[in-house]
Amino acid sequence: MSLLELEGVDAYYGESHILRAVSLSVEEGEICALLGRNGAGKTTTLRSIAGAKPPAVRDGRITFDGTEVTGRAAEDVSMGGISLVPEERRIFADLTVAENLHLADVARNRSNTFGRSIRIGRDGMTTEEVFEFFPRLEERDSQKAGTLSGGEQQMLAIGRALKQTTELMMLDEPYEGLAPQIIEAVEHAIERISDAGTTLLLVEQNAVAAINIADRCYVIDQGEIVFEGSAEELREDDETRERYLGV
Ligand SMILES: Nc1ncnc2c1ncn2[C@@H]1O[C@H](COP(=O)(O)OP(=O)(O)OP(=O)(O)O)[C@@H](O)[C@H]1O
Ligand SMILES: [Mg+2]
Repeated sequence: MSLLELEGVDAYYGESHILRAVSLSVEEGEICALLGRNGAGKTTTLRSIAGAKPPAVRDGRITFDGTEVTGRAAEDVSMGGISLVPEERRIFADLTVAENLHLADVARNRSNTFGRSIRIGRDGMTTEEVFEFFPRLEERDSQKAGTLSGGEQQMLAIGRALKQTTELMMLDEPYEGLAPQIIEAVEHAIERISDAGTTLLLVEQNAVAAINIADRCYVIDQGEIVFEGSAEELREDDETRERYLGV
């Protein structure tokens, strides 16, 4: 059984039909990448899994560790062990780094809402553990988050997710707007999170960087999955990369 499974998911914004029979699975312990161009449906897929509304999932099933979570409230999904680091990072610009991390404490170590059949994964980290993970954040703990560099803001957004009890971490374009050197630092952080046993679903437009760290990849185009395979297979599949990813 896969940790996360989507079977024939159809999602809508109002009457606008975006995801069309999306099926994908994420295996425990892997880094899975969902790739595609602007507007392909990547964020919509993550929001559908996370229980964010909109979109509305009108057909299909989403199961997490064997429990159906389709249509569950975002808070339930989050407390059940799935965390989402959203595209816009959603940190509080006027609050300090430490205050931003403190706000994440509410979600920490809460009991699992999906019942006992779900194995709850890693306990959420404490602020001290997040600082050990990202020393850069500790150096800047009393700095207003809005004045952090793009890479530091991404670390803060990931740091907040690490405070949650997380079995599956979903990252929506963590490399967006970052210089190559900073991408490397975030890449390194993602690999360490993976090594510590958290399963990752990574959404990226930067296909080259994502293929670099992913075990398996999906490509989505106009709301449909058009490729599924290992990172190696996608690296060798020039036609798919050129046609759907432009690289
Ligand atoms: N709140 C919304 N209301 C209506 N349509 C939306 C909404 N959000 C997204 N869409 C549409 O759904 C489609 C898929 O958008 P989505 O945000 O999932 O794309 P994406 O693959 O994440 O793109 P990007 O790489 O630009 O972030 C797009 O056509 C978009 O315009
Ligand atoms: Mg998006």
